[in-house]
Amino acid sequence: MNYHQHFSFELPTRIEFGIGLIESLAEHVLQLGGKRVLLVSDKGLVAAGVVGRVVDILTSADLDTRTFTEVEPEPEAAGVTEGAKICNDDARDIIIAVGGGSALDTGKSIALMARNAGHIRDYAGLEIPSSPGLPVIAIPTTAGTGSECAVWSVISEKDRNIKYGVGGRNMTATVALCDPSLSVSLPARLTVGTGLDALTHALESYVNKATQPISEALSEKSMELISRSLRTAVFNGADVQARADMLLASTMAACAFAPTRLGLAHAMAMPLGAKAKIPHGDVISILLPEVMRFNVNANLAKFARIASIFDVDTRPLSLREAAHAGVDAVAQLIADIGAPNSLAAYGVQESDLDALAEESMESGNIVVNPRPATAADLVDIMRKCL
Ligand SMILES: [Fe+2]
Repeated sequence: MNYHQHFSFELPTRIEFGIGLIESLAEHVLQLGGKRVLLVSDKGLVAAGVVGRVVDILTSADLDTRTFTEVEPEPEAAGVTEGAKICNDDARDIIIAVGGGSALDTGKSIALMARNAGHIRDYAGLEIPSSPGLPVIAIPTTAGTGSECAVWSVISEKDRNIKYGVGGRNMTATVALCDPSLSVSLPARLTVGTGLDALTHALESYVNKATQPISEALSEKSMELISRSLRTAVFNGADVQARADMLLASTMAACAFAPTRLGLAHAMAMPLGAKAKIPHGDVISILLPEVMRFNVNANLAKFARIASIFDVDTRPLSLREAAHAGVDAVAQLIADIGAPNSLAAYGVQESDLDALAEESMESGNIVVNPRPATAADLVDIMRKCL
């Protein structure tokens, strides 16, 4: 570490973590001065009984609770506008967001737009000036996006084929209430995509040019937990210890990448998600192995360390061999859990790649990637993933 190079680390979100913690939700609402709750979630969690359970907990504490469960996967700006209008028309003073990244990103965005003029799109980018939003309690039911601790929300406008990130201090949850028992019923397919998204957050932050000691420590612990428990969480989802490892890994990875940004997988995931409508976790799973193969020689030491974290005995290996063994160990995990591995399966064609690469080059994740990349490099990586 070159200490002449300045770094900063800020964690605006209080993390509460533990099995069964959901039962203490009302206390956290009262602590934040909340009286009139807008509960943001999705229809899947209504059907699974999670929304009903949360409403029961809140109403037993005499908290006035209104639900907004219109959130779709890859959430829409229109839902943010509608939710913010409900907050203002109906004097809601706190947001509780329950669900995966889509519900949490929508909840955080509603909280921001309840206290700011204009459209959520006007705040796309990092630290676009805004006023603080309503307090937010974020309750993740998947272990992947880390939205509960992330400074970003990703919002889509499908009629315009666009997807953008809105980031900054005012886009953070006030409290992340992380209860692993809420993720035990997550289907295997979603456990795969969200788990590999968490791994990619930890890994891309760890090997990139902007990483720093506090992020590195969080990434290392996150990857260790994922190496130990993602296979179990996928193939024996009822194992609450494995679910807890994955939820902690996801939350820690989000804290790691807040000040560092990510890398090429996330740069390409944005336009691929918007244009080809590929769920975020799936596109990340497809891209990660080829992105690692592109990057490995630019940061041998870090990929060699990843090999050790993934239980490879690196003692008999050269640095180069160990680094490539790190890539292979991560690729093996991805293969073992049956992650998607083809962009073509989602309708992406060779003729789409130039435009997708051009758009990816505008991402803030490009400049921090360990190996400088051109649009032609991105076309090459995506072609290998077709
Ligand atoms: Fe991600």
